[in-house]
Amino acid sequence: MTKPHILVARAIFPEVLARLAEHFEVESNQEDEIYSQQQLTGRLQGKQGALITGSARINEQVLAAVPGLRMVANMAVGYDNIDTAACERFQVLASNTPDVLNETTADFGWALMMATARRITEAEHWLRAGKWTKWRYDSFIGPDLHGSTLGIIGMGRIGQAIARRSTGFNMQVLYHNRSRLAPELEQAANQAQFVSKEQLLRESDHVILVLPYSAATHHTIAGAELALMKPTATLTNIARGGIVDDQALIHALRNKTIAAAGLDVFENEPALHPDFLGLTNVVLTPHIASASEKTRLAMANCAADNLIAGLSGQRPPNLLTS
Ligand code: DGY
Repeated sequence: MTKPHILVARAIFPEVLARLAEHFEVESNQEDEIYSQQQLTGRLQGKQGALITGSARINEQVLAAVPGLRMVANMAVGYDNIDTAACERFQVLASNTPDVLNETTADFGWALMMATARRITEAEHWLRAGKWTKWRYDSFIGPDLHGSTLGIIGMGRIGQAIARRSTGFNMQVLYHNRSRLAPELEQAANQAQFVSKEQLLRESDHVILVLPYSAATHHTIAGAELALMKPTATLTNIARGGIVDDQALIHALRNKTIAAAGLDVFENEPALHPDFLGLTNVVLTPHIASASEKTRLAMANCAADNLIAGLSGQRPPNLLTS
């Protein structure tokens, strides 16, 4: 029996590639070239499946141009790069990699939030620049994490993992979400309190964004929302760049209407708004929240599991389409 043909659209762990090769005829991209939409469409010709990451946009045009495609497996929990409604219309299965990255991503959310509040990268740059000549009582002072109020926007599995970690910091947790969690989940999430977005922004000392990106969540945080935040508050974004209006955030950081921001994601990444680079009160990281060795391998294997199931006629464990 001939094996289905697949495209692995980005570089991937060699052991996962080898696993895929047991099931499929694989065209890989270990050079890790970033394909344009046209190149992607070209590479997909004759393929029944694809393992992709967020840099590949699967939309109506791509689907129309690749009639033999049966499945796309995203190696990410976020799937704003896939038009799932169009996949339904073209009867193409789509999957993501939930759960395997929850704890690692929550760890990183904390790391970024703490670096942001405690000005760690700013202080390190200053030290490396040879500016440390004496200890001062007010050098790099910032807000405390412990005993403060944490506001989580997007209380899915990663948001809940972030909330659980806050118990050790003796924090009060507010959250805003599409719907309220079941009481036992709120309890497990450090007795998180469900509030409006406005109340959360007004009362939180540290706000973290963990919600999925879609047209409905575009610029969830813009000028009006930033204006509600405390001047001592921090904002951390580990979700997707488009959730925050960059221009409004730059204005708030420049005018210190909020204290600082930590950003792991950007609207047009890997490009970022150049004004961020000139600000000292923002910590910038290159979309690495899930980047532990174990978790990235688990994500790759999870995407492979989905593809193997979907192309052999079984239901992929993390199916996004019906
Ligand atoms: C995810 O899994 O969605 C991460 O942001 C990596 O893209």
